[in-house]
Amino acid sequence: MQIYDDLVFFAAYSKMDRSKYGLSAAGEWHQLEKLFPNVNGLAVLDLGCGYGWHSKYCAKNGAASVIGIDGSRTMIAEAERRNPDPRITYKVCALEDYDYPAESYDLVLSNLVLHYLDDLKWVYLKVHSCLKPGGVLLFNIEHPTFTASPEQDWVYQDGKPDHWPVDRYFYPGERETHFLGCPVKKYHHTLTQILGGMLDCGFVLEAVEEAMPAEEMIPVMPDEMRRPMMLLVKGRKK
Ligand SMILES: C[S@@+](CC[C@H](N)C(=O)[O-])C[C@H]1O[C@@H](n2cnc3c(N)ncnc32)[C@H](O)[C@@H]1O
Repeated sequence: MQIYDDLVFFAAYSKMDRSKYGLSAAGEWHQLEKLFPNVNGLAVLDLGCGYGWHSKYCAKNGAASVIGIDGSRTMIAEAERRNPDPRITYKVCALEDYDYPAESYDLVLSNLVLHYLDDLKWVYLKVHSCLKPGGVLLFNIEHPTFTASPEQDWVYQDGKPDHWPVDRYFYPGERETHFLGCPVKKYHHTLTQILGGMLDCGFVLEAVEEAMPAEEMIPVMPDEMRRPMMLLVKGRKK
C-alpha cells in the first residue's frame, strides 16, 4: 500500500510547513531553485510530484508542458486542487509503471522520492532514455548519512541529542523506519550508488550539494540540527 494514501500518515504530512506553505517553507528550496535550468519552453516530467509544487513552479516559469506523476491518489488529488495549471497533467502512476517515452523531456525532476525506490540504476536508465539529448535530471534524495540507520534519529544522552548514528552504511537496501509517527519503508543508497550510478548510466554530473538550512532558519535552529538530511544532484544526458 502507498503510505501517502494512509489517512493517519497523510493527516500528519498535511500539517508539515512544506505542505501548508509550499516551496518557500521547504528547507532545501533556496539551494534547489538555483540548480533549475531556465524552464521556459521546456517539456518537464516531475517524478513523485506530490502536491505539485515543483510542477507548478515550472508551469509558472514558462515550461511548455509538465507531466506530474505520483503513486498516491491522495497526493494527486491534492495537486489537482492546490496547483492546477492548463500546462500541467497530473497522473496517478508509480515510477515503476510509467512508460518513459523515448527522448520526450528536457527536464526530469524528482524531489524527495528516490529513497522510496530500491533500484536507482533502473530509474536512471529510464530517465536517461526519456530525456532529449542534453536534457537534465535534477533530484533531491535523502542523504545517505540520514538513510543508513533505520531509526533516522539521534542517539540521546540524558534526554539530549548526543550523536547521529551512521550504521550499516555499506549495506544498501530496505530500511523500515518511522516518519511522521508511522512505519515507513525507505531504501538506503550509498554515495557511490547515487553519484557513481549516474555516471554509469550516461549522465555528466553538473552539481552535487548537501542541503543546509536557509540563513534565516539558522538563528532558530539548534546546532545539533545542522546536519545534511538531503543530497541535491543535477546531471545532464551526454
Ligand atoms: C516526500 S513526498 C515529495 C512530494 C513532492 N515531490 C514534493 O517535494 O513536494 C514523496 C512522494 O513520493 C511519492 N512516491 C513514493 N514512492 C513512489 C513511487 N514508487 N512511485 C510514484 N510515487 C511515489 C509519494 O506518493 C509522495 O507523494
